[in-house]
Amino acid sequence: MGWRKKVSAGLFKRRISNMGILFHQETKTFHLYNKEVSYIIRIMENGQLENLYYGKAIRDREDFTHLHEEMSRPLTSVCIPEPGVLNMQCTKQEYPVYGTGDYRSPAFTVKQESGSKVVNFTYVSHEMYHGKKAITPLPAVYTNSDEEACTLELHLHDQMMHTDLVLTYTIFEEYPVITRHAAVCHKGEEPITLEKVMSMSVEFQDMDFEMVQLSGAWARERYVKERKLEMGIQAIQGINGTGCGAEHNPFLALKRPEATEQQGEVYGFSLVYSGNFLAQTEVSTFDMTRVMLGIHPEGFSWKLEKGETFQTPEAVLVYSDKGLNKMSQVYHRLYRRNLMRGNWKEQPRPILLNNWEATYFDFTEEKILDIAAKAKEAGVELFVLDDGWFGTRNDDYRGLGDWVVNLEKLPDGIAGLSRKVEALGLKFGLWVELEMVNKDSDLYRAHPDWIIGVPGRFESHGRHQHVLDFSRKEVVDYIYEMISKVIRESRISYIKWDMNRYMTEPYSRGAAADEQGKVMHRYILGVYDLYTRLTQEFPEILFESCASGGARFDPAMLFFAPQTWTSDDTDASERAKIQYGTSYVYPLVSMGSHVSAVPNHQMFRSTPLSTRANMAYFGTFGYELDLNLLSEEELKQVKEQVAFMKKYRKLIQVDG
Ligand code: DGJ
Repeated sequence: MGWRKKVSAGLFKRRISNMGILFHQETKTFHLYNKEVSYIIRIMENGQLENLYYGKAIRDREDFTHLHEEMSRPLTSVCIPEPGVLNMQCTKQEYPVYGTGDYRSPAFTVKQESGSKVVNFTYVSHEMYHGKKAITPLPAVYTNSDEEACTLELHLHDQMMHTDLVLTYTIFEEYPVITRHAAVCHKGEEPITLEKVMSMSVEFQDMDFEMVQLSGAWARERYVKERKLEMGIQAIQGINGTGCGAEHNPFLALKRPEATEQQGEVYGFSLVYSGNFLAQTEVSTFDMTRVMLGIHPEGFSWKLEKGETFQTPEAVLVYSDKGLNKMSQVYHRLYRRNLMRGNWKEQPRPILLNNWEATYFDFTEEKILDIAAKAKEAGVELFVLDDGWFGTRNDDYRGLGDWVVNLEKLPDGIAGLSRKVEALGLKFGLWVELEMVNKDSDLYRAHPDWIIGVPGRFESHGRHQHVLDFSRKEVVDYIYEMISKVIRESRISYIKWDMNRYMTEPYSRGAAADEQGKVMHRYILGVYDLYTRLTQEFPEILFESCASGGARFDPAMLFFAPQTWTSDDTDASERAKIQYGTSYVYPLVSMGSHVSAVPNHQMFRSTPLSTRANMAYFGTFGYELDLNLLSEEELKQVKEQVAFMKKYRKLIQVDG
């Protein structure tokens, strides 16, 4: 591995290592490369950065300026003094900004005290190092050793605003992967307000692509959708505040029209973030394609005072020269080895039984132990108690927020029940929904100002519940105290962290008027903060994230919870489509997949028990029904399925 700050062309006839970053001083060109991919950036005559090349690995050379296409046309504006011809409208840029003659969407817009939004970030210096720095508190891909990757930081500056922009790129040795994010550090006396700060922008000289996206709704999450790129903007987005949502995943791919599962070029773009996002392609009228990914500017405005920094979430770019399948394999390996963390990283998952579809809210301790005992008999390893164990939560109208056990249902509490389940020979897991509150709860009665909403306006509800204002530290602190007490007192091996509604009337009663544009991002940082505290205090617990089924299946969640409930739709046939789309980006070991009862509770369809298991094997595997209700013959089949999965789960979930 190696990079050199200054390399002469003569010295560099062939590669000196499998991965590196080269800087060619004379032509002011950076070349990030590994065996499979090259990414080339040039400092242009105006000091801004040109995105010269991204794609299959190419031989290094001192001068790549032949890749710059000079396209002066009537109506283009020249951004350097006469007799120069450089224009931004026809130039592939690394991080396009607003106001200098590029009329495509910029990656960055900022409002200055003068009212101007015009900026000009120019190159100042760069830094290159082995490994990769964390971008705490944001989740991000990490290296297990410094030898795995090397990083380039490009430092730019806008003289009028006195603001630094740092663009960070990491290239991995083993994967055709480049990660990117941006940071803005303000040094001027007058504050600025960031209105759009994308994590990345990349450009291609042509538009011969199909855009692939994973889109759907509740119970049909992440269907694969493809469309040919046309001139203009084509985008997907999430602006619901609480998660990426069931509608669109924070991912898009550009594939060549002839690319298949096994061959052809595919570029994947995945955002490590759980909040509002924009994934956009824009084809110019000169047939050039720009791809951008980052926090959605809608509802976002971030005031920066002198000395403050804002950093974007990370984008993960995968280049595949062997079709969609290779792109998926790369994401799977990278996310398993370099994104998931903790004791459960690369560990086969316990086979669980969850009581939700077996009982819904209607259970007693006796009934739970009865279901758990039968699960044990079938070879199941973990019993999970779902919604309904706390406060007055006997339906979904009340009780959310009151993380105190309902002693009428569970006389010995979670502490007692978890020990009884362990005495049966099973581990015990628990459901929570920490970000929400019902108005009919002690928590809401004590703190009505703790919900997201605008005072005096109607507060929309969803599933009869409201979103707690996790942008406020005191709210996160309170929830942490309540739930960590329950965990400490009990024997808990697994937690299902649910989230069942999107944000409405986004407004924090705890933030000043000019801070409201920060609320939705801060909410997500609050979620990450609580996850961090709980995973650090209870490292042995396996966390599974969930949001009305699969409405929060994003890479950032995998940083905290190495598995995610894929969908409330447990119908085997529907699951084939959902799990196929999910597998474009997310590894099988992250996909919660259970055998449920028939007729299926979502689709009312009956599929054979074997079909249901055949589908659930391609994930974490478990059951979502009362095994006591099965026939002897069916129970025998279940025992065989459990034995099969125990034998092959390592192969299916973590090998490869
Ligand atoms: C939605 C989840 O997707 C379900 O699995 C279940 O946990 C319910 N919430 C409980 O309210």
